[in-house]
Amino acid sequence: MEKRSRILLCVCGGIAAYKAIDLASQLFKAGYEIRTVLTENALKFVSPINFAAITHNSVHSSLWEDSDPIPHISLADWADLIVVAPASANTMAKAAQGLADNLLSSILLAHRKAVLWVPAMNVNMYLSTALQSNLLALRNRGHYILEPATGMLACAYEGKGKFPPVPEIIYAIRSYLTQTRDLVGKKVMVTAGASVEAIDPMRIITNRSSGKMGLSLARALSLRGAEVTLIYSSISEELPYYLTEAVQALSAQDMYQAVISRAQSMEWIIMCAAVADYTPKIVAEQKLKKGSQMSLEMVATQDILAELAKRKSSKQLLIGFAAETQDIIANATEKLDKKNLDLIIANHIKNAGKDSNAITLISKSGKPQNIEGDKFDLAQQIIDRIVEL
Ligand code: CTP
Repeated sequence: MEKRSRILLCVCGGIAAYKAIDLASQLFKAGYEIRTVLTENALKFVSPINFAAITHNSVHSSLWEDSDPIPHISLADWADLIVVAPASANTMAKAAQGLADNLLSSILLAHRKAVLWVPAMNVNMYLSTALQSNLLALRNRGHYILEPATGMLACAYEGKGKFPPVPEIIYAIRSYLTQTRDLVGKKVMVTAGASVEAIDPMRIITNRSSGKMGLSLARALSLRGAEVTLIYSSISEELPYYLTEAVQALSAQDMYQAVISRAQSMEWIIMCAAVADYTPKIVAEQKLKKGSQMSLEMVATQDILAELAKRKSSKQLLIGFAAETQDIIANATEKLDKKNLDLIIANHIKNAGKDSNAITLISKSGKPQNIEGDKFDLAQQIIDRIVEL
């Protein structure tokens, strides 16, 4: 974060209000400056002291009883981003209509920068025509919506309406502080993770890729509005819950089929997965028994990127990764040419599994670009470079 971004955290009345305390805590630890607004109904679920103690900053809930004589304008002007979490159906309806009958609705009307809504409620309320048309009105006005997660709700219904995992809200905040939904409708396929090749029913051959970079790309692309198909093998993290399609393909052969069968309709294909170059020639049906030594015959897998390059349409962009231990730039440039890619991202294998990395972006034209940061930050910058291409 370059400067301490100012987040106005607005909490509506709903059972998920208690989860906003954790959101405030994780935002504070991440270095954001936070002020909080609680609606009258939120005060029935949580106390101002929770937020004041965690954010070390002011909490506001009234237009009339505030030390500031015009709190709605001061708070609207102060915030870089307003985050309404949880957002109630009532507050969204008021904002969609431009009503200003309490502190929060007045702030929303006066604010000139970005607003992120995080709705959480009963599934039938969330899917109601009235609520969906209010969401559309807000989105058409440039507001951002992080859709709820699906699962068991507090009302004992099963469905869409859950407050998202806090880290996903923070990724959305990071995205909308600097980016817009500039990729709406773009169809992108991303692969992630380490191939898993079976030796017998118990043993496998795999590699050290964690899938974090691929998941960060899928997440950042989705938040910018792209329709993301993720093909993933073995990964060490939860998938973002809002992807358009997510398909697990563990082996190089399964990934080949999953990718090639979907490739034609994709505008960008980003091959971030660490695909096995070899697989056992025969997978033993029964568990192999111990002996004094063992040798395994391996055969080459198909190169997915090379096949994609053969079938590539003029409107498609192909992006590859090169994880190396030596001569990183030279090896990556050779792969860029050999596989006929538009962009390759070179990096040292030592950062596999870590949250941060240092990478070099190499395309056919222009100078190699070195960037470093956490993998979400790198994903944003890789996407910016693809947009330029
Ligand atoms: N890749 C692929 N299909 C394979 C192997 C790799 O599509 N069977 C892709 C990877 O997803 C990556 C790029 O090709 O985007 C480069 O992968 P890498 O393993 O670094 O290179 P290889 O071409 O396999 O060459 P080497 O292992 O000799 O470095």
